[in-house]
Amino acid sequence: MKKIAEGIFKEGKRIFTENLTPGKKVYNEKLVRYKGKEYRSWNPYRSKMAAAILNGIKEIPIGKKSRILYLGVANGTTASHFSDIATEGIIYGVEIAFKPMKKFIKLCEERKNMVPIFADANKPELYEAMVEEVDLLYQDIAQKNQVEIFLKNMEKFQPDKGIIMVKARSINIAMEPKKIFERVRKEIGRKYEIKEAIKLSPYARDHIAISVEI
Ligand SMILES: C[S@@+](CC[C@H](N)C(=O)[O-])C[C@H]1O[C@@H](n2cnc3c(N)ncnc32)[C@H](O)[C@@H]1O
Repeated sequence: MKKIAEGIFKEGKRIFTENLTPGKKVYNEKLVRYKGKEYRSWNPYRSKMAAAILNGIKEIPIGKKSRILYLGVANGTTASHFSDIATEGIIYGVEIAFKPMKKFIKLCEERKNMVPIFADANKPELYEAMVEEVDLLYQDIAQKNQVEIFLKNMEKFQPDKGIIMVKARSINIAMEPKKIFERVRKEIGRKYEIKEAIKLSPYARDHIAISVEI
């Protein structure tokens, strides 16, 4: 097991995080013991951040003390790995759908560094009072106006860094993904410095991860 970034480990072709709640799985991932510690396999087909890491994203802006606002947290698959890494930080998870939020709330009871926010990410003014200063905005929302949501929240919370997982087909099903990505890069690039843009195939088709800095 080799450390490849703060809180992230690699063995062969698989990546892992150290389990914050040993013995417990979140999404039926593999648990592995190594030198007295338990690690959870981080599945790139289930988590776009894992896909970005395996595809070579250079900077992973998550550490022990990270404070993260996560938009589109669903039932917490990816957020649980952030929670393994940010053991002294906090993850605010925003989700609009009731069913995944119900599961996420359960997960938050076990993992004390996660806070559930049942809200529409289009309306950051409705949850801004619940969110303290954050250093990363992470978004994975498959909506037509996903870029607008990202920019609105970046503006409101002013984190140092942002990562958006862009799903081309949600923006326009008829247009070539390459063209959509160009447009998205332009739109985001007008406001923030784009640090990296990483394709997520073969793990997630027609997706890219874009990371920005203020
Ligand atoms: C692709 S899934 C997220 C998967 C999750 N990020 C993970 O890796 O574990 C997208 C989620 O965004 C949520 N979503 C869609 N529109 C939203 C909005 N306006 N505000 C908050 N969440 C939204 C959906 O309900 C869905 O759960």
